[in-house]
Amino acid sequence: MSMAQQPLRAGVIGLGMMGRNHVRVWDESVPEADLVAVADTDASAVSAATAGRRARGHTDAGRMLAEEALDLVSIVAPTSLHCELTVAALEAGASVLVEKPIAATRDEGHRMVEAARASGRMLTVGHIERFNPAIRELKRRLAAGELGRVFQISATRLGPFPARIRDVGVVVDLAPHDIDVFRYLIGSEPIRLYAETEQRIHTEHEDLFNGIIKFANGVVGVLNINWLTPTKRRLLTVTGERGMYIADYIAQDLVFHANSDAAETWINRGAGAAITTVAEGEMTRRALRREEPLAVELREFARAVREGGPPPVDPADAMIALQLARLMVESARSGRAMVGEELLGAPS
Ligand SMILES: NC(=O)c1ccc[n+]([C@@H]2O[C@H](COP(=O)([O-])OP(=O)(O)OC[C@H]3O[C@@H](n4cnc5c(N)ncnc54)[C@H](O)[C@@H]3O)[C@@H](O)[C@H]2O)c1
Repeated sequence: MSMAQQPLRAGVIGLGMMGRNHVRVWDESVPEADLVAVADTDASAVSAATAGRRARGHTDAGRMLAEEALDLVSIVAPTSLHCELTVAALEAGASVLVEKPIAATRDEGHRMVEAARASGRMLTVGHIERFNPAIRELKRRLAAGELGRVFQISATRLGPFPARIRDVGVVVDLAPHDIDVFRYLIGSEPIRLYAETEQRIHTEHEDLFNGIIKFANGVVGVLNINWLTPTKRRLLTVTGERGMYIADYIAQDLVFHANSDAAETWINRGAGAAITTVAEGEMTRRALRREEPLAVELREFARAVREGGPPPVDPADAMIALQLARLMVESARSGRAMVGEELLGAPS
């Protein structure tokens, strides 16, 4: 085997709810890499993660980075530690995939991007929804113009209260997923946003969030997110002149409801004619190949590092998602819409 084909050396920092998934996927679903080491300050999390695996366990992430010569590191510790651990991993010579949100504050995010630049290593962010087969298929179909003009995009992300997340509220924890997907699918930048939040159960942060984003191309984005619903719903709806798409992230389903007037217009008035009415049409479930989004994400990260390609998710996009989430919190606090230049300047 030539040098170039040797497996990359992968490690995971943070072995909690999400970190355990990174451990399993690196170990079992990424042919380009070997999981060689994992770290968590909690020794019981380390023994649970290494049981039945060849990876070495560490209770000190700094020591793991110094001893294991890692090429790839997943940072899956709480969000408030992303900056410190990411900078340490980059300085130790590893490329890093840090979980979303990139950091708790903009200043931390900037420090991470700067550390990646200085180290010459790759930094990417785990915006996992971009790797969901339903979203990939929807992106392909929107790019092909299947919906015609897009009018509205709407995200529903409801679920139970995660007692373990203490460092950030529901907006910074979850909205970056949907804000990133909106920008990824719509291909336009926000010009105005407004939010309402409530804190009903959480002791320190908001746990209910409704937000509206107006995009430069006229698309209206609607966010409905909370930690107060006793069942999980993860849906994305995109409405355009030819119909509506509904993507279900959990089931990895993509369903199309046609505007039957679009078909009428096509037949009777020609392809370029304006659609003037909306009428119920056929519903179609699009075929797609289901795959675990985290496996797609980590494989694309490993391949990008191996091939020297661009990061699968540009940290600049993750910074924008964090920035807009923080502006949502600010909008709710102040009771006013954020517009124009405020969307780029803004609170850290
Ligand atoms: N992409 C997704 O869908 C998704 C889902 C869940 C969580 N996340 C993200 O993953 C991160 C972790 O979330 P979680 O739900 O797994 O949290 P968690 O609390 O279950 O796990 C965090 C782990 O980090 C460990 N830890 C704390 N300090 C450490 C340190 N200095 N060094 C090493 N380990 C340390 C803790 O002991 C714990 O085991 C968060 O940033 C969260 O936003 C992403």
